[in-house]
Amino acid sequence: MSETITITDNRTNESVEIPILNKSVTSRDWTKLLPGIWFYDPGLATTAVTQSSIAEINGNEGMLRYRGYPIEQLGDKCSYPEVAYLLLFGELPDADQLSVWRAELADRSVIDETYLSNLMNAFPQNAHPMAMLASSVAALSMLYPESRDVENPENRMIQTARLIAKMPTLAAAIHRRRTGQAYIPPNVDIPFVPNFLHMMFQEEGKDYECHPVIAKAMDVLFTLHADHGQNCSTTAARVVGSSHADPYSAVTAACSALYGPRHGGANEAVLKMLAEIESLENVDAFMQSVKSGDRRLMGFGHRIYKNYDPRARIIKQMFEEVFTVTKANPLLDIARKLEETALGDDYFVSRKLYPNVDFYSGLIYEAIGFPVAMFTVLFAIPRTSGWLAHWNEMHSNNERIARPCQVYIGSPQRDLP
Ligand code: ACO
Repeated sequence: MSETITITDNRTNESVEIPILNKSVTSRDWTKLLPGIWFYDPGLATTAVTQSSIAEINGNEGMLRYRGYPIEQLGDKCSYPEVAYLLLFGELPDADQLSVWRAELADRSVIDETYLSNLMNAFPQNAHPMAMLASSVAALSMLYPESRDVENPENRMIQTARLIAKMPTLAAAIHRRRTGQAYIPPNVDIPFVPNFLHMMFQEEGKDYECHPVIAKAMDVLFTLHADHGQNCSTTAARVVGSSHADPYSAVTAACSALYGPRHGGANEAVLKMLAEIESLENVDAFMQSVKSGDRRLMGFGHRIYKNYDPRARIIKQMFEEVFTVTKANPLLDIARKLEETALGDDYFVSRKLYPNVDFYSGLIYEAIGFPVAMFTVLFAIPRTSGWLAHWNEMHSNNERIARPCQVYIGSPQRDLP
């Protein structure tokens, strides 16, 4: 059997035979026969924009792997810094590499205090944290103008480590600005995740004890959120990065894309939805409003997963342990009832709508003490390693500038009166 596809232009009877390589056919061969005829593909649902070796997703089987390793094993056995290293360099670090990497992240986590407090004070205190985060990342581009040398791989890695390291510092400063608390600088002697929790939650005049169960839960959540192939925000980073803009500008675009409720903003939207449903008796009426098209069941559905999102499955198993050291979240019962109802209802079953990563994550974040508005920021911190892994991969492959086509359906030429 020939591993090719033949396309025939029935207007001219000309044909082109295109080899199928890596489950794809190249559009260049297609355009040889049919210049000016585009694949019309709204939402890029069936277009592969790149070849990547970072994350592999099988949506029908509910499978996610980073560099070949199943997400379940990485969550179980690795810390987030190890996973970030894996995404960036292709292999897990050995003990020496890990200690150098941890030290580099700790070193680069510091942001000049005057600069940071001036920046934070420029934002309205009640601004949304994601708007503050996107603006703060854009501001880093002004501190590091040398980051514009994107063709230099060593320089790219310096900026990459810098940005991954500074995201928790920015996130905690945003939280403290919103809550009117003094900014706490990073403690370079504490590991990545506990240090973030310390910068977030340390109260004035008191010690902050990070419970190991909470630290482990956050590490797992960071690992689960670190990458997910060519999702909306990664695509935004790639599109901006493809013009050879600096990485801070590319990640600003990614933060802005993540902010939306159909992407990373869904974790915040889920908690608002659960609070609005308020009690188990209101679940049926709510589901009716979803089925009649008035609203969406937030945290459900995915472009790629037509089966249970493996990340949601892992998060769902984390409640019991986390709730032994936090208060149980009363909204969990509503979430479970929504899931149970949806998985037994033809509307959701026929459309293959299952819980995604955002359905349960917010319940854990809230139990740990994060304000709901911060949830998408918690997604952005680890996803920065994924964004930058793709950004580096794109530059290593010397990819072309992103420039999709359109099918023009407007007026033909007309003349002014
Ligand atoms: N609730 C109710 N119906 C839904 C939902 C939902 N959450 N998601 C999809 N549908 C329905 C659509 O109405 C549509 O029905 P139709 O065929 O009768 O018109 C069908 O399922 C297909 O939906 P699309 O919007 O075409 O699917 P798409 O792949 O474009 O969107 C998305 C995926 C954005 C995730 C969507 O499922 C959604 O809006 N979910 C809720 C928001 C959410 O949880 N986002 C987080 C995703 S995970 C992440 O980004 C990190």
